[in-house]
Amino acid sequence: MIRVPSNMKALACAGTSAVLAAVVFFGLVCSPLICLSAQRKEKSAESKQEEIKPGAADPQARQRADALLAQMTLDEKIGQMNQLFFFGSKPVESIDTGIRKGQIGSLLFVTDPALINRMQKIAVTESRLKIPLIFGFDVIHGFHTIFPVPIGMAASWDPKMVEGAQTVAASEARAVGINWTFAPMVDIARDPRWGRIVEGAGDDPYLGAAMSRAQVRGFQGNRIGSPDHLVACVKHFAGYGAAEGGRDYDASNISDAQLWNVYLPPFRAAIDAGVGSVMSAYMDLNDVPATGNRWLLRDVLRRDWKFGGFVVSDANAVDDLKTHGYARDAQDAAVKALTAGVNLEMSFSAAVYLNNLANAVKQNQVSVKEIDDLVRPLLETKIKLGLFENPSVDEAKVKSTFDNPAHREAAKSAAQRAAVLLKNQNDLLPLSKTAYKKIAVIGPLADSRQDTLGSWSFAMDINETATILAGLKTKLGTTTQVEFAAGVQISRNSPSPFDMLLKEKHAPAWTGTQAADEFKKAVELAKNSDIAVMLLGENQDMSGEYASRSTIDLPGRQLELLQAVTATGKPVVLVLLNGRPLDITWAAQNVPSILEAWYPGSEGGNAVADLLFGDAVPGGKLPLTWIKNAGQIPFYYSHNLTQNPGEQEKRYWNEKVVPLYPFGYGLSYTTFAFSNLKVNQPEIKIGDTAEVTVDLKNTGSRAADEVVQLYIHQQAGSASRPIRELKGFDRIALAPGETKTIRFKLGPEELRYWSAAARDWVQEAETFDVWVGGDSSASLHSTFRVMK
Ligand code: NOJ
Repeated sequence: MIRVPSNMKALACAGTSAVLAAVVFFGLVCSPLICLSAQRKEKSAESKQEEIKPGAADPQARQRADALLAQMTLDEKIGQMNQLFFFGSKPVESIDTGIRKGQIGSLLFVTDPALINRMQKIAVTESRLKIPLIFGFDVIHGFHTIFPVPIGMAASWDPKMVEGAQTVAASEARAVGINWTFAPMVDIARDPRWGRIVEGAGDDPYLGAAMSRAQVRGFQGNRIGSPDHLVACVKHFAGYGAAEGGRDYDASNISDAQLWNVYLPPFRAAIDAGVGSVMSAYMDLNDVPATGNRWLLRDVLRRDWKFGGFVVSDANAVDDLKTHGYARDAQDAAVKALTAGVNLEMSFSAAVYLNNLANAVKQNQVSVKEIDDLVRPLLETKIKLGLFENPSVDEAKVKSTFDNPAHREAAKSAAQRAAVLLKNQNDLLPLSKTAYKKIAVIGPLADSRQDTLGSWSFAMDINETATILAGLKTKLGTTTQVEFAAGVQISRNSPSPFDMLLKEKHAPAWTGTQAADEFKKAVELAKNSDIAVMLLGENQDMSGEYASRSTIDLPGRQLELLQAVTATGKPVVLVLLNGRPLDITWAAQNVPSILEAWYPGSEGGNAVADLLFGDAVPGGKLPLTWIKNAGQIPFYYSHNLTQNPGEQEKRYWNEKVVPLYPFGYGLSYTTFAFSNLKVNQPEIKIGDTAEVTVDLKNTGSRAADEVVQLYIHQQAGSASRPIRELKGFDRIALAPGETKTIRFKLGPEELRYWSAAARDWVQEAETFDVWVGGDSSASLHSTFRVMK
């Protein structure tokens, strides 16, 4: 079999020095360890217009795929199972040849529509069977228009908004010819040291499942092949978020009960929403690498959950089965991944499937039938996407898709809805537009475009980013003087491989003298201003893949700067840009107002300016437990009572075991009151559904949103249950003085759990506590009983 020359070599010819540098870095330095990774009014997927479930079996697609399979040589089949990275901007002969010979089924990271069209043309006119390529990309929180990072979107507690955001992202990516996104990432993360906590929905499986479903619907639309949509890929299956010590890529050891009750539900939600593909995770799960894990990929995913799409390995993860000490050699890795059920191998250059599967068939290690079964879903997906009929895109339409003003509006609204008000002493916020003559905007993140966007932002036009400084200047015009001083610089002490792909490079490091001067300048600016707005947190490369850290404090001299500016006596508003909870204990005690903005995206600056000056009201809530310091890890709200629960806060003798802010927490510019909590049936039978109602009143003077949250606790059973578990939520808009009654259902879905004693899903006849309120410490309480 003729092999495709190494992708690395191919890429090395591809063009700019930046690309070359990235390729050399990833190819030579990182590939064994990491991968680079690197208005439209669509009908809502929930509308009843079209009832086809996105991932539903499509008999016609099946027939066409089978007809194609019948014509394919073994080599052509194996070629379909090969996906390569391509970072370049120019054609590469070896890649063209690979496509022509049917040795490449998919490419990722090509974002130029002309190049995509060109490659697609080779596939559909020059390859023997004219099978189109599927182009994948990490469309995580936007493509051209960048939305808040996923942890921020989850903080909106607004699945409809999130669905809309991913609809926009899908349309922009599809416009350039990308058909497939490696999202949503639904890994539950309970350790904020883990950098990728920024890519998920936080620490709770119920919220995580809601965000998972919403994103799948947004990306895919009503069915795979909906115009202007993509195939979604739920990742990383499974347990990646439980990396030991929060160290990215380290092993996960998860009990069966935790796996079923906590880590798997968001995946299950994506499968039930019809997700078209799944990415197998990098790490060992309970000693078996996820990419070679037959139990996960066949028994759970396909047999039990009836998943009919395809599984792609994470980058190089098939080859990495060797470095895990799980496969003897490349052929063994190919056989193990294939047997486990990986349909498509993503790699930089290893192409372990391409180079080994034919031999494995010859040696009877795998059968042609096994290969057919894994190639079929890949072909079906290409058929469902309509790629055989419409392989190319209209390059002339790309700009108008990107320039759609509705996309910017959606991004701004998303950033507003994502923000969480953590503290607002004496109602310092919202600020008056006329009270301050001079505003000091201070901090290393105030005017950094890349850090306003967050990780996985590669394909946008960086010039279209509204930083917080820019947003404040636009809002205040010439009426108020807005002056900026960075004060400090922050940087990682070991570089991120992703920095090579950034559009805005880090500024050169200041000298010692410069650093002292800049610090002084910032404090002086605060002294000479009426108020200081401080933008602190983490550079975007401190959070994300390959971005775990051992502590969660404010990097660099940021705390010192905050303390010095606060010491001026001027009012201080702290705005955080970050992707994980940080140790802001000092700020929580000493700074009057704190707004969590996450990495808010292209419209971040305008959104934050609206929030600070009251043109928008914060209504986001924390999608995770905001711990005080790394010593508390793991610490999440839904823990068990266990021994001596009355003394839970005294588990450490040196400090109280309480979070800085509880899960679900967030303030508003108005106030809300909950009352009249009722479980309308004090007793229900197993399998029946109880209805919970509560009244919510806006008791303040501003129209605003409150996220009504319902928590339960099963009082006894065959296993211990968490002290509280989220089982319902709704983001409600209320005018001042308005009251609404909110309804929730509690049925078998909400009341069952996987019991470590029964080793199965159970619903038990027991008494349940119910709390409803604005966060996980809600005190409004009721109970009901489930009877046999
Ligand atoms: C590796 C990352 O783990 C994964 O999330 C990403 O989708 C792939 N690389 C592709 O970039």
